[in-house]
Formats: sequence, C-alpha cells, structure tokens
Amino acid sequence: MSELTVENITDVVLQQMSTTPNARQKEVLGVFVKHLHAAAKEVRLTPSEWLMGIDFLTKVGQKCTDTRQEFILLSDTMGLSALVHLMHDKTAVEHATTTSLLGPFFRENTPRYKAGEQIAKSVKGKEVVLYGRVSDAHGKPLANAEVTVWQTAENGLYDIQYQDDPDVRGIFTTDANGDYLIRTTAPVGYSIPMDGPVGDLVTSQGRHGMRPAHIHFLISSPDYRELVTALYIDGDAHIADDVVFGVAGELVVKIVDHDPACPIQGASSVRYDFSLSKASEADKMSGRVGADPAAITKAAAAAE
Ligand SMILES: [Fe+2]
Repeated sequence: MSELTVENITDVVLQQMSTTPNARQKEVLGVFVKHLHAAAKEVRLTPSEWLMGIDFLTKVGQKCTDTRQEFILLSDTMGLSALVHLMHDKTAVEHATTTSLLGPFFRENTPRYKAGEQIAKSVKGKEVVLYGRVSDAHGKPLANAEVTVWQTAENGLYDIQYQDDPDVRGIFTTDANGDYLIRTTAPVGYSIPMDGPVGDLVTSQGRHGMRPAHIHFLISSPDYRELVTALYIDGDAHIADDVVFGVAGELVVKIVDHDPACPIQGASSVRYDFSLSKASEADKMSGRVGADPAAITKAAAAAE
C-alpha cells in the first residue's frame, strides 16, 4: 500500500469509490469528492474549522422538522437552488416560462378551489386577482392544467409557520381556454427564518435575510415539464438583493389597480401568462421538480 499524501489522497478515495454500481451516483459523488478535497486544500482547512463545519451541518439537520427545512434554506441562501434551476431551464426541449425556487414552504396538503375563489382566510388589506393563460410553448392553451399557488398571509408568514390548517395556498384548474383565475391577498415580503443555523450564518456574513414579496406557482399538465416558478412584485425594496437569488426579470410583475380586462372587477390584479415546455424523455424519467419537503422528514422518521 502506498502512503497517503496530500497529493494522492483524492485519487486513492476515488479509486476505492470506483466500485459504485450506480453510474450516476458514482459520477456525482466522485466529482463532489474531487471538488471538496480541492476546496479543503485551497483554504488549508484546519481540524477546528472542519469540526466547526460538522457542528454547523449537525445543527442544520437538527433544525429540520415537518414544517421547517433548514437544508433547503441553506441551499437557497448559497445560491445552489437557483443554480440548479438555471441549469434545469437550459435542458428544456422548448422555450417556456423561467423557473424559480420551490423553497421550503410547498406542501402537497393544499385545498382545491374553483376559478375565482379566495384562498386567503383573512383579507384585511389589498385583495389581488391573479389571472392569465397557461399554454404550450407555441401558444396553444392548455385546458385542465393544474395551477398550485402558495404565498405569505398578511402576517408575512406561510401557514405552516403558525398553524396546521392550510391557508393562502390552493390548487386551481385551467378552463377550456387554458385560463386560470385566482383571488388572493397581496403577498408580503418576508425574512427567511433567522432563528436557526442558516440565519446565524447569513447574519455573520453581514447579509439581510429578506425576500421580496412573491407568489409561488407550480403548474402541471400531462406530457409537459412541471413548471415551478414564482411571480415577484415590482417595487419591493428587495427585488435586486433577494437573499435566496430567486428573482428573474421575466418574473417581476406589477399589481395593477384598475385593469379593465380583469375578469373580476373591484380588486387589484396581476395578469401573467405561463407557458410549459413539452416533457423530454429525460424529464419523464427524472423525479418531480416540485416535491413536498415534508416528505423527507416524514420518511426519515418512519425509517427510525
Ligand atoms: Fe416564498
């Protein structure tokens, strides 16, 4: 056996991992180890810094519950989630609406609503109508597409942060013309949860934890690539420095006070037309873009 050195250890590890039968796992973890070692060498990682990293990741894991996904927050604040979405958009077989972050607050447990129904239990402030069309990449309307929305309530929190009952989230279905119609309350810009290890990290970096006001969308139709995106409200102070890098220019919208074309009059409104790319064979083979993060902690608990 040759002696381990700083120079040869990466190759020795990769050699031992080369027996991995799953080709994709072998590729992903091989590259990961290569870059992890390179990073440790570049910064000359010390044992105490290595322990500090272990301590941090331990705290991130311990903070995760059915209603809190600290790892997604970590990925989001490091720009990894945004990077994954940017790369995912490039692999679409057709040009469609830009994606944005799923975030930690999507839940499968979402009530269904009829077109035009209000998803917020309390609307003391501005009522907002969201409407528009879901079409394919060539403008053909998609009837019966599922449009799932979720956003902050007027208190600036997602329902799962303060109660068990779903609120300000709903599933709608497009009509024969591909049109959707949703009534909600104006979303509120919010701070990501700062009372955990990721918040401590963000604070230690001199960053704020704010996200601009936005509404999440997950849109699906059979044979089309699932679209996970969000609309960001123009004029929010944090459009340009979102702590999780979710904003894209194409996704910034104005809340219009008097839109004569809006199907519901007397409320402010946002019109946005979404387009979906045909699903490629690879899309059909791969997992969902939008999946309930609570399933991860539930599966982990069940395995114990
Ligand atoms: Fe959000």
